[in-house]
Amino acid sequence: MPHIKHYLQFSDFAADEYAYLLDRAALIKKKFKNYEKHQTLTDRTLAMIFEKASTRTRVSFEAGMYQLGGSVVHLTTGDSQLGRSEPIEDSARVISRMTDLVMIRTFGQEKIERFAQHSRVPVINGLTNEFHPCQILADIFTFIEHRGPIAGKTVAWVGDGNNMANTWLQAADLLGFSVHLSTPSGYEVDENLAFGGKTPRAGCYQVFQNPLDACKDADLVTTDVWTSMGYEAENEARRKAFADWCVDEEMMACARGDALFMHCLPAHRGEEVTAEVIDGAQSVVWDEAENRMHVQKALMEYLLLGRTA
Ligand code: CP
Ligand code: NVA
Repeated sequence: MPHIKHYLQFSDFAADEYAYLLDRAALIKKKFKNYEKHQTLTDRTLAMIFEKASTRTRVSFEAGMYQLGGSVVHLTTGDSQLGRSEPIEDSARVISRMTDLVMIRTFGQEKIERFAQHSRVPVINGLTNEFHPCQILADIFTFIEHRGPIAGKTVAWVGDGNNMANTWLQAADLLGFSVHLSTPSGYEVDENLAFGGKTPRAGCYQVFQNPLDACKDADLVTTDVWTSMGYEAENEARRKAFADWCVDEEMMACARGDALFMHCLPAHRGEEVTAEVIDGAQSVVWDEAENRMHVQKALMEYLLLGRTA
């Protein structure tokens, strides 16, 4: 397979590529808000493969691709041969002969990697058990929109050491900010997995037992569901273990006065976050969700056309 640029994890791109993408997303968003057409992907087709549920990822990729002048094909495990054991490699060979770009939401990261190895077109990670790079791209864009550059800032991660936490760590390593992690015992981030066995930049993250300490002086406090998709069997055990990891007003009060609150959504008020926080003045979760579409439009354009500005 000739060299194709994929977006399978946050560390697939360099800092200067993120600088370009974030600027481009701002331009694309501005045009969208002004009802100006931005159709750089006319006649291109995006295949979207979902092996897990989604609202934001589906709507943002689908609406985004149509706005760029292209079209989409939506596949799920239940309505395609993917659910009937057709090998991933064969699915990749076939789907990538008929489309220009593929977005996949699945379980293990190795599945998306195997697909990419046999794909003729770029593949985007729309969430795996291990990573959620499109979401962190949107979160960073949202932070910059509200507060300016993220380099040198502190992001407090309160909750599960999951796909979101792993991706925040990759972003901190690359973009020069720091993550303060607080997870219940037994749900820590696997550093080896997050950094792919490489040694991260010194100071890019710090671990705190007490979530209040993690939030101290943070510029952004963020959390996620206690039970990610695919881990439902652990629901009860997680409810007990995570009881003290609910982002509430006391935690927000430890952060800087101008700290933002983010959550990739869907959220469970009264579990990982209180209604007062997620519906409060510091929360930017609706901008965060909307920005998925703007950054992914920039991402799709970049993967297919390279730098156009
Ligand atoms: N944040 C996010 O990826 O949402 P969906 O699961 O609704 O796509
Ligand atoms: N960590 C969550 C994110 C949902 C968008 C999950 O994987 O289910």
